[in-house]
Amino acid sequence: MENLADIGMIGLGTMGRNLVLNIADHGYGVVGYDRDPDQVKALRDETDRPEIMTADSIENLIAQLKIPHVLIILVPAGKPVDEVIQSLKPHLKIGDILIDGGNSHFRDTERRAESLIKHGVHYLGVGISGGEYGARHGPSIMPGGPEEAYKLVQPILEAVAAKVDDEPCVTYLGPRSAGHYVKMVHNGIEYGLMQIIAESYDLMKRGLGMSNEQIDEVMTAWNERELNSYLMEITSDVFHETDPKTGKPLVDVILDEAQQTGMGKWASQDAMDIGIPAMTIDTAVAMRNLSLEKEERVRASRILSGPDHTFPEDGGQYLEDLYNAVYMAMILVFEQGMSLLHQASKTYDYGLDLAEVARIWRGGCIIRSALLTTIRQTYLDHPDLANLLLDSKLGQKVDSRQGQLRKIVTLATELGVPIPGLMTALAYFDATRSAWLPANLIQAQRDYFGAHTFRRVDAQGDFHTQWGKEQKS
Ligand code: 6PG
Repeated sequence: MENLADIGMIGLGTMGRNLVLNIADHGYGVVGYDRDPDQVKALRDETDRPEIMTADSIENLIAQLKIPHVLIILVPAGKPVDEVIQSLKPHLKIGDILIDGGNSHFRDTERRAESLIKHGVHYLGVGISGGEYGARHGPSIMPGGPEEAYKLVQPILEAVAAKVDDEPCVTYLGPRSAGHYVKMVHNGIEYGLMQIIAESYDLMKRGLGMSNEQIDEVMTAWNERELNSYLMEITSDVFHETDPKTGKPLVDVILDEAQQTGMGKWASQDAMDIGIPAMTIDTAVAMRNLSLEKEERVRASRILSGPDHTFPEDGGQYLEDLYNAVYMAMILVFEQGMSLLHQASKTYDYGLDLAEVARIWRGGCIIRSALLTTIRQTYLDHPDLANLLLDSKLGQKVDSRQGQLRKIVTLATELGVPIPGLMTALAYFDATRSAWLPANLIQAQRDYFGAHTFRRVDAQGDFHTQWGKEQKS
């Protein structure tokens, strides 16, 4: 059969359909399939380009593909991915390649890859970042799995990826679940950055009594400086949207409960599992959970009191401090994420090149920002740096802004505006630069009630003491 397609797409939702169009834009033949016939019809109705074919069954999909069969799965993480794999198994041949482009948990990717290779099928866990626009015009792509399989699909992935300085924002990241792990950390950083921006909005709105127009003006100006980033750009756009139903700013009629599909939370969970203090990312997840306690918060607002949120005079004097506080906190969020990748690479034997991770994050993805150019250079200079703050250039960028972050934390504390992301960023900075921390007291307490022993500053070994002669009640 002639005109066999180069690649198949299973899942024609927002991401899948747009990626199909992007693949076709680059001259590759692609077959689109979805178990929902309406989605297949929508694609067929959207385009009659010869590069794009559709299939009404898995068998029909496979029959239209070159050998080895290459298929991208873009369905919701979890059970749907396993269901698709089960439906594909009877039709796959030795040497075929399955690409999971969804936000799958990295342990699920490990399990699926192990199971499929027993049948000679290669499994690539590929993080794809950039949302609908990215899928259509160029995402950042984070592939992991067997390198020989990656090399076979590398041309297509490089063609459809975002480009920065003519370089595709895709690179082979490492074996097994390396790609999905990097995407997971990307989303953890995303949560942290979004929380920091939300807190600056809260401080300007409730703390300094600024209008949406004034806040938008500030965010737009910030985006023209070192804070230049996709998230700053879309945040400014958010303030331009008017609600057609009420004529009010749309942001003002959106319910203040943050949802999450979970990948950022998984980053926080694994950071705790492998011992990385990603405190600001942890806080961002916790604040999404706290935002969901809307009913309790409304009731508590009537019972609990606190300082009046609004600064009594013109707060313009704090805006430059707020800019520098946000910039410092964002660097610390990236630092926590990169430290997590540095440790995960050792724990899971990924062999990650963190300069390459920063490079492919410079375009296409949600956390793309001017900062990533500096972070990439830092890892080019020091490939095995465990903590970005130990690099003089980035360390200096943070060090020089701590005064402003302290002022903002003090202001928010006095006004009663909750900015836990900015506060944990400062606490993380102060703890990281502390040669001594009060963990000796925790060790004493643990040994007192549980005889867990402690180490000494002046001798090797583990020690225990019979604390407090009479047993406390
Ligand atoms: C991306 C995004 C995307 C994610 C959304 C929603 O990189 O394009 O991270 O993968 O699904 O951001 O994530 P939450 O529902 O967890 O906020």
